[in-house]
Amino acid sequence: MRDHIRFYLGDTLCELAAVPPTLTVLDWLRERQGRTGTKEGCNEGDCGACTVLVARLEGASLVWRAVNACIQFVAMLDGAQLFTVEDLRAPDGTLHPVQQAMVDLHGSQCGFCTPGFVMSMVAFRKTPGAVAEDGAIDDALAGNLCRCTGYAPIVRAMKQAMAAGPDRFDERAAAIADRLAALRDGRTVRMDGPEGRLTIPVDSDALAATLAEDPEARIVAGATDVGLWVTKGLRVLPHVVFIGRVADLRGLERTAEGLRIGAAVTYAEARAALADMLPDAGEVVRRLGSTQVRNAGTVCGNIANGSPIGDGPPVLIAAGAMLHLRRGDARRTMRLEAYFLAYGRQDRQAGEFVEAVTVPAPPDGTLFRAYKISKRFDQDISALLGAFALTLDAAGRIHDARIAFGGMAAIPCRARATEEALRGHVWNEATLQAARAAIATDFAPISDMRASDWYRRTVAANLLTRLFAETAPAGARPETRLAGRGREAAHV
Ligand SMILES: Cc1cc2nc3c(=O)[nH]c(=O)nc-3n(C[C@H](O)[C@H](O)[C@H](O)COP(=O)(O)OP(=O)(O)OC[C@H]3O[C@@H](n4cnc5c(N)ncnc54)[C@H](O)[C@@H]3O)c2cc1C
Ligand code: FES
Ligand code: FES
Repeated sequence: MRDHIRFYLGDTLCELAAVPPTLTVLDWLRERQGRTGTKEGCNEGDCGACTVLVARLEGASLVWRAVNACIQFVAMLDGAQLFTVEDLRAPDGTLHPVQQAMVDLHGSQCGFCTPGFVMSMVAFRKTPGAVAEDGAIDDALAGNLCRCTGYAPIVRAMKQAMAAGPDRFDERAAAIADRLAALRDGRTVRMDGPEGRLTIPVDSDALAATLAEDPEARIVAGATDVGLWVTKGLRVLPHVVFIGRVADLRGLERTAEGLRIGAAVTYAEARAALADMLPDAGEVVRRLGSTQVRNAGTVCGNIANGSPIGDGPPVLIAAGAMLHLRRGDARRTMRLEAYFLAYGRQDRQAGEFVEAVTVPAPPDGTLFRAYKISKRFDQDISALLGAFALTLDAAGRIHDARIAFGGMAAIPCRARATEEALRGHVWNEATLQAARAAIATDFAPISDMRASDWYRRTVAANLLTRLFAETAPAGARPETRLAGRGREAAHV
């Protein structure tokens, strides 16, 4: 057991004991380290002004991720190296290639959002496979808001910076990896202080034991939900258990049952594997939050949180996902839809935690689509999200249908009447109309600031029409995705 956390801030080793469990990285940087280059804008993960870069050792690879310092807790840095905008300039004053490009191309109008943009741009340069194309840059910077609409010069600066050679961090990558490897001691961290207790279990056995001892302890994975409870809800959490680094919850593997995504796997980590199996699931992940949110937020945290408008659950329910839970040594597995009982209530007992979710590969002949409907394309919460899995036989008859919606009820749930209207029928215009009629009986959505009940009902039925249009024979398919941003339509 260790009684302090250890990480690097730039090149300085920080060993902190008695850290308040919910002290944010942003407050620690600005108020305790005097690193005021990292700005506070929204304090809820939306604007990107607080973006910092975190380097971690994943296996033997050094991985760099941009995250929002305002909704990350300091204890989550254990074992990592944190870089802020102050770390970019070399000791001799030479600017980082991203900073130089921002100067050269007039990418900075104000000092408020610029540090966050710069950190996201540095992270983008370090993303394996990143290309200097408009769409990829838009995706990378969707979590950074410029309030004066200066995006065009910023994108130009990003392109210039991508053409520059390695930076001084790349040159020291091996040394950084060695230093992070030396921090790995395989010990659980436990700290008690006047503002509460924090635990960082080393493995899921230690997590199970911690929760058995204190079933009321609050699990935190990526903190992209819990962070806001603290910064906006001012909630006090007496015992926080950080699971983001629990090694045996970080597995992402293909098993005989499907793609198993461990509870500590982030959206950024799961995205490629999900997209490979279900391209539209990948599209939904691409539009979930921003790069910074996906770098921290987990697939299972989205489930555990139980929000009726979480984007992951309807997609995974339509795909037939199974949820794995553990309490002490007892494990159980259930269909994902069974986990959501009522608004704010899930089938999880005190002291129980989500271990993983398994997403089965779609059977041959399955048509899988997922549509997120929100006011903006980037970084917006869904008004509703519909996910559809139709399994067709060789004659075009619907053998099975699994349809799930978010935003249409108090929980993510299946459209049972619509599924029934589809099963056993040939997928044609008459079946579409029957399904459109059925969906009106499946849901009685509410009106809120995101959408009216009328809008939700109308769009839900129209998504069936979109599904039908996208599955028309090649050549008769209308364009249904936002030009230049949506995925290629040709996939049945
Ligand atoms: C700016 C911003 C934009 C966002 N955009 C979207 C969006 O577009 N779509 C969307 O769906 N969500 C969005 N979110 C919400 C959030 O990112 C997701 O819900 C995310 O997946 C939560 O995962 P997490 O790991 O951060 O969860 P945390 O915040 O760590 O935890 C969330 C909840 O789950 C519980 N929990 C976590 N892991 C476990 C576990 N293994 N077992 C039991 N309980 C657990 C926690 O105790 C807590 O109650 C956004 C958030 C922000 C800040
Ligand atoms: S301050 Fe706006 S994202 Fe952190
Ligand atoms: S550069 Fe800061 S608001 Fe645009």
